[in-house]
Amino acid sequence: MKDYKQQIAEIIAPHVEGLETAEIRDMIEIPSDANMGDYAFPCFKLAKVLRKAPPLIAKGIAESISGDSIFAEVESVNAYVNMFIAREGFVMDTVTDAVEMGDMYGSSTTDEKRKVIVEYSSPNIAKPFHIGHIRSTVIGNSIYKIYSFLGYDTFRINHLGDYGTQFGKMICAYRKWGNEEDVKREPIKTLLSYYTKFHVEAEKDPSLNDEARAIFVALEKGEPEEVRIWKWFREESLKEFTRVYKMLGIEFDSYNGESFYSDKMPRFVKELEDKGLLQESQGAQIVDLEEYGMSPALIKKSDGSTLYITRDIAAAVYRKETYDFAKNIYVVASQQNLHFQQWFKILELMGYDWAKDCVHVPFGLVSLEEGTMSTRHGRVVFLEDVLNRAVEETKKIIIEKGVATDNIDETANQVGIGAVIFQELSNSRIKDYTFSWDKVLNFEGETGPYVQYTYARAASLARRADEKALERAEKLDIDPSYIAGDAAYELAKLIGGFPQAVKEAAGRYEPSVVTRHIVDTAQSFNKFYHDEHIIVDNIDEQAAKLALVIAAKNTIKNGLALLGMQCPERM
Ligand code: ARG
Repeated sequence: MKDYKQQIAEIIAPHVEGLETAEIRDMIEIPSDANMGDYAFPCFKLAKVLRKAPPLIAKGIAESISGDSIFAEVESVNAYVNMFIAREGFVMDTVTDAVEMGDMYGSSTTDEKRKVIVEYSSPNIAKPFHIGHIRSTVIGNSIYKIYSFLGYDTFRINHLGDYGTQFGKMICAYRKWGNEEDVKREPIKTLLSYYTKFHVEAEKDPSLNDEARAIFVALEKGEPEEVRIWKWFREESLKEFTRVYKMLGIEFDSYNGESFYSDKMPRFVKELEDKGLLQESQGAQIVDLEEYGMSPALIKKSDGSTLYITRDIAAAVYRKETYDFAKNIYVVASQQNLHFQQWFKILELMGYDWAKDCVHVPFGLVSLEEGTMSTRHGRVVFLEDVLNRAVEETKKIIIEKGVATDNIDETANQVGIGAVIFQELSNSRIKDYTFSWDKVLNFEGETGPYVQYTYARAASLARRADEKALERAEKLDIDPSYIAGDAAYELAKLIGGFPQAVKEAAGRYEPSVVTRHIVDTAQSFNKFYHDEHIIVDNIDEQAAKLALVIAAKNTIKNGLALLGMQCPERM
């Protein structure tokens, strides 16, 4: 694809002294009001160098460049040069790219395949996989897909919370009140009930806490009985997690979680000691971070057991040594901001210069209309139940609306699950949001079903098209003057902006940039669909319009794929 900003910068450069093409490129704006041009170049900055009033400079530049065939029109308005692109050329370029590249439209390549690790989901074993987990799971999966699409060598890690004092509690409760059959039948719900009971009982009898702590120490020491029960809890839990990942179409390259690092810890405790970073405080080992405005990091407890943060330090070094990442991304809730700041700082103090390549991507809370959740009190909404309900409700809507489909269950799955994913990725990740069934499953709002429906509408146009016209569209044997009207041009601009949106989403670790762009593209497509007849008798006209339809269809499909969604062909 022609890089229009770059081209324009090159056209302007000979007419302004003292500015590099790259600087000019950065100054070029895209006006929010299309009446002010497709691109605008502000001249304020030039006044000093050129010793002329900005409006005069703008006028001079406008006159000098207006003859270039890339422009339909160039005018100066006050200090701005407003440029209107020759639509036919632009539309042809854009449609050509989007049709020819197909499933790869919007992708790019990096020079050397740089390694990027994306850590996401990372639920805690033997605890419910609840609605709150949707965030890391879906945001992380999308970031992984976006980086892969941009040519990075990506690696997905699920850093399972499969270690820590809570396993002491769980094993303690299991021994006291548990039974094997119940766990086998309904692992997580059963284990959760033990965990809940443990907290109730421990309030009455605090000595239970000591007992649980001792069990965890035994586990860390590798006592066979504790290890056996813990392994079994882990396996049973993983079975449940995997079921949900399957529904969401999500996979991982590694499930190395916290326990994986349990035997790798002594090296780091020693290293911290050798580097003079460790201090004793009430029998425990800490790193003092007061100088950096942070509370101390607890590395090793007085009973000798290590902590969450110690395992994170070990994991980061392990990843660097094993995968030599260029970027190591953690998609983890903003409640853990301090935790990440602390241990990133510790890595830096340990002298690891690659600490700067570790990125925490935080996100806000999801709450439910029905009220808050609390694992400890057993008030939990399981993610699996939410996904199942989404599919069921979608199926009802499909039947009610008489939506066309060859396979109702498959469509209900794609649309129902897609709707949940789409809502999750609609707003900037740092915002808290409330999960709302009405919003999720609305076929008319800015929702997953709406965008999927738009895709299916485009697919149906291609099916209904004249065979010859479709063939010409696919071969790009078209006359772009038929797709240079306002609605078509607006749509082409959005299609043309898609690759840039993908890059921006990667740079900001923000999948909602893609979501927004796809919603805009779908709305623009529907306006085009509404304003113009597409399957017209004139084959030249039909072919050109179909090429634009295919370009839009590819853009929507690729965008939704980056979010982790599928597109039904009929709906
Ligand atoms: N298991 C943790 C939790 O559920 C999240 C783990 C985040 N990743 C990390 N490397 N600390 O809160």
